[in-house]
Amino acid sequence: MKHFLSIADLTPEQFRGLLTLAIKLKEEQKSGSGRPLLKGKTLGMVFQKPSLRTRVSFEMGMIQLGGQALYLSPFEIQLGKRESVADVSRVLSRYVDGIMARVFGHADIVTLAEYAGVPVINGLSDYNHPCQGAADFLTIVENKGQDLKGRKLVFVGDGNNVVTSLLFGATLLGMDFTITGPRGYEMPPGVWALGQKFAAQSGSHIAATTDVHAAVEGADVIYADVWASMGQEEEAAERARIFEPYQVNEALLAEAKDDVIAMHCLPAHRGQEITDGVCDGPHSVLWDQAENRMHAQKAILVELMADESQ
Ligand code: CP
Ligand code: NVA
Repeated sequence: MKHFLSIADLTPEQFRGLLTLAIKLKEEQKSGSGRPLLKGKTLGMVFQKPSLRTRVSFEMGMIQLGGQALYLSPFEIQLGKRESVADVSRVLSRYVDGIMARVFGHADIVTLAEYAGVPVINGLSDYNHPCQGAADFLTIVENKGQDLKGRKLVFVGDGNNVVTSLLFGATLLGMDFTITGPRGYEMPPGVWALGQKFAAQSGSHIAATTDVHAAVEGADVIYADVWASMGQEEEAAERARIFEPYQVNEALLAEAKDDVIAMHCLPAHRGQEITDGVCDGPHSVLWDQAENRMHAQKAILVELMADESQ
């Protein structure tokens, strides 16, 4: 693995290996035996959008691994405005050992990787959110076990960046996947085609439907995300109306398996795509999921930046 731009770039074995390493690093940290695997290394963190989890979990992850992280705010580098993305990448690569970037257009993260002399990690683009996906499957494995064959993940909402990474992760690992949302907000055809290819290889089943009730039947995992992503703020009111039937609430959870887990990448708009009752209820794994960002990303950082493989 040279960069980490999409879960779709990984083989099933690489993805499983990453999750296994994340579990190991999490156990080590919890038992106080964490190792400084990135001693003296630095990560440059470029943000075009706001963040709580991505910023803090990467920074703390680097600290725990014995390294350091530099936060570069949207006002500083101004990717592509103050200077070209390629030049930013060339220059940053001379100072740091790795680059993590959160961008609007996915093409910018691809350009960063193309011109970088160091590994580049995608901290969310308009196309996907692979670090979130890695943390989510760590959380799913913790709750449902390593063998996800026959298990069903249902995403309720917009065919956005977060669900793109969930589709890739599920189909690589052989987990069944359903997305349900209103017509006109489906996943991009190219993303779906990749999911179909991986599903055929792993033996998982994927489906898309506007019928939210049919979708959640037999679900092991129900996943929600905001209806309007960062950059779509002006569509928020219209989307709130269109997506209203797709709220993840306690009544919807009751239609799934008894031991269904409720997930959300956060930040949540409580009362819109998810209710307080779900966020704070017995099925919620939201806070483990947020914590797992750090453990999953430590595995990604070690995989890309450590001098020796772990
Ligand atoms: N889930 C997630 O990426 O959160 P932030 O936007 O706060 O980083
Ligand atoms: N889909 C959301 C995820 C935020 C972590 C967004 O892009 O704003």
